[in-house]
Amino acid sequence: MWVFLLMMSLLLYPAAASTARTDAKPGCQDKSGNIHARNISVLEGTITASLYTAFACYNKTGSRTDNYAQSFTLGSGPFTLSDTRNAFTVIGCDTYAWMTNNESTYGAACLSLCTENVSMSDGNPCSGSGCCQTSIPKGLKSLKYSLSTLNEYTDVSDFNLCGFAFLVDKNSFQISDWPLSRKPKYDNDAYTADVVIEWVVENKTCEQAKANQSAYACGANANCTYPEIGQGYRCSCNEGFEGNPYLREGCQDIDECKVLKNPCKEDTCENVIGDYNCRCPRGKYGDGKTGCQRGSIITIIAGN
Ligand SMILES: *[C@@H]1O[C@H](CO)[C@@H](O)[C@H](O)[C@H]1NC(C)=O
Ligand SMILES: *[C@@H]1O[C@H](CO)[C@@H](O)[C@H](O)[C@H]1NC(C)=O
Ligand SMILES: *[C@@H]1O[C@H](CO)[C@@H](O)[C@H](O)[C@H]1NC(C)=O
Ligand SMILES: *[C@@H]1O[C@H](CO)[C@@H](O)[C@H](O)[C@H]1NC(C)=O
Ligand SMILES: *[C@@H]1O[C@H](CO)[C@@H](O)[C@H](O)[C@H]1NC(C)=O
Ligand SMILES: *[C@@H]1O[C@H](CO)[C@@H](O)[C@H](O)[C@H]1NC(C)=O
Ligand SMILES: *[C@@H]1O[C@H](CO)[C@@H](O)[C@H](O)[C@H]1NC(C)=O
Repeated sequence: MWVFLLMMSLLLYPAAASTARTDAKPGCQDKSGNIHARNISVLEGTITASLYTAFACYNKTGSRTDNYAQSFTLGSGPFTLSDTRNAFTVIGCDTYAWMTNNESTYGAACLSLCTENVSMSDGNPCSGSGCCQTSIPKGLKSLKYSLSTLNEYTDVSDFNLCGFAFLVDKNSFQISDWPLSRKPKYDNDAYTADVVIEWVVENKTCEQAKANQSAYACGANANCTYPEIGQGYRCSCNEGFEGNPYLREGCQDIDECKVLKNPCKEDTCENVIGDYNCRCPRGKYGDGKTGCQRGSIITIIAGN
């Protein structure tokens, strides 16, 4: 039930986001549309979405022939762009791109230059030659970015006529997907990049959330936790439990005796709810988790 409600609220908010095409080439459809959630991770509190990349292209004599700027806003829900997973990335040899949030309280730029047809292989990470990356701050809810150039690509036009800029999940970005010869595609074929959005259940503190038990999202054997983004709360299973912390009975006991390999130094593991014990074999004593010692039991006999 909880997960169902959670999914509903998640899917609705990103749908309010839109992309806008500026200076569209005649004949190309405006790409206004929704952000499509591709993957929702309940445990990590993330949504992966695909966004069109921004680009700008020039012809051999340095006239701009094509241009697309990206702009999107996450809805008013508890969603932010992940600062740990995403990087702003610029590809090109005479290319700079800048980004701001919708309110223009944040801005940054990245410049990518090269003088030859650099081979963009995964072993040659984005280093400023043909590719530039920079981080974004915590807590961003909107971003716009567009491209420009220093010399209209006139010095690099033999091998590079278009620049691209996009926010991208560092885990899914592969630089080999971005050869300098790439030209934009349009409509359903347009190049996209995966962006990671972080969500929280509600923008409340754990105390506030627990105060209203009928709205509190964490199930049994789970607890309220704070995500790295530092706003709002999420749930996680307590130590010794695993599963979906947003379901009423979603966190189930882990049988450490089966899951861990020989958790006890001597083979006398006993699973208990949320934990496990190690009993010492007959003739030994101590805490079996750290090791049993051989010894005799001293019996004190009251003198008579
Ligand atoms: C969704 O994300 C999870 C965790 O990041 C990953 O293991 C899984 O392969 C992804 N699924 C798809 C369809 O991309
Ligand atoms: C580049 O575009 C400009 C303006 O559209 C045009 O005048 C010029 O002839 C074009 N150059 C080439 C090499 O196509
Ligand atoms: C969460 O609430 C704080 C303070 O009420 C606000 O500044 C912040 O923008 C909110 N964050 C989100 C993601 O809505
Ligand atoms: C962007 O900011 C402007 C003014 O700062 C505001 O009027 C507009 O509603 C904002 N757009 C979105 C989608 O939040
Ligand atoms: C640049 O190099 C790529 C391979 O890295 C190659 O596919 C492409 O044709 C080259 N471009 C030119 C103009 O030589
Ligand atoms: C507690 O949560 C429920 C369900 O969301 C809501 O209807 C109710 O108004 C909340 N109560 C308080 C005191 O905020
Ligand atoms: C649950 O979380 C609260 C606040 O984050 C913490 O104070 C408390 O010790 C946690 N309880 C358990 C059982 O982990």
